[in-house]
Amino acid sequence: MEKNKLKAVIFDLDGVITDSATYHYLAWKSLAGELGIPFDEQYNEKLKGVSRMESLELILQNGNASSQYTKEQKEALADKKNNLYKELIKQISPADILPGISSFLEELKANQIKIALASVSRNAPFILGQLCLDTMFDYVADAAAVPNAKPFPDIFLAGMSAFGLQPQNCVGVEDARTGIEAIHRAGMPAVGVGTPEEMQGAELVTTTQELCLDLILERLGMEI
Ligand code: BG6
Ligand code: MG
Repeated sequence: MEKNKLKAVIFDLDGVITDSATYHYLAWKSLAGELGIPFDEQYNEKLKGVSRMESLELILQNGNASSQYTKEQKEALADKKNNLYKELIKQISPADILPGISSFLEELKANQIKIALASVSRNAPFILGQLCLDTMFDYVADAAAVPNAKPFPDIFLAGMSAFGLQPQNCVGVEDARTGIEAIHRAGMPAVGVGTPEEMQGAELVTTTQELCLDLILERLGMEI
């Protein structure tokens, strides 16, 4: 059987390129603490890959507090979290690129494989700048222009369409369950960065450190 050609790798940002997922967690934890709502790392797993307003809604639901706030108050709470998050991510530097990611990006470039970013975070372009990675990405999907966040496939499809490619020639890389689902709904094979329990369903589960072209081609049965 003929193998699919790998022409683009479409990356999530938070938790894949850098550990900004931790800063999201810290900012939400601070807000939840102020609101007197329980929030821990386990509950935070549900928020990974989920949009800002949906994340707030999940936190409020956890404290049975969703109906206590008006839409405007919820927007103010989300702004508060985002302002804290923006303060935290100012400290991100190229030293915070996760192990293995820089060499993997270089390897993709050397093999003329397109690189896209599919993050639903409105802060993604700022973080790419902090990491000095802006020029490595051929396309950065605009989170604000994508109607449906993950687990809908929209943001991965935006990355793919930018290159005029078909899903079977793309691979998505994610650290969140919602993200793996989004990749699959886009019709692409998924690489999950994390534990096999968290990354259930991904065609390849690995660490950023081990992520390389040979592994992807071999395990996903693709070629360049
Ligand atoms: C995703 C994160 O990448 O972006 C979520 O995994 C976050 O935790 C979402 O809520 C939206 O991010 P932002 O920066 O626009 O609030
Ligand atoms: Mg992520």
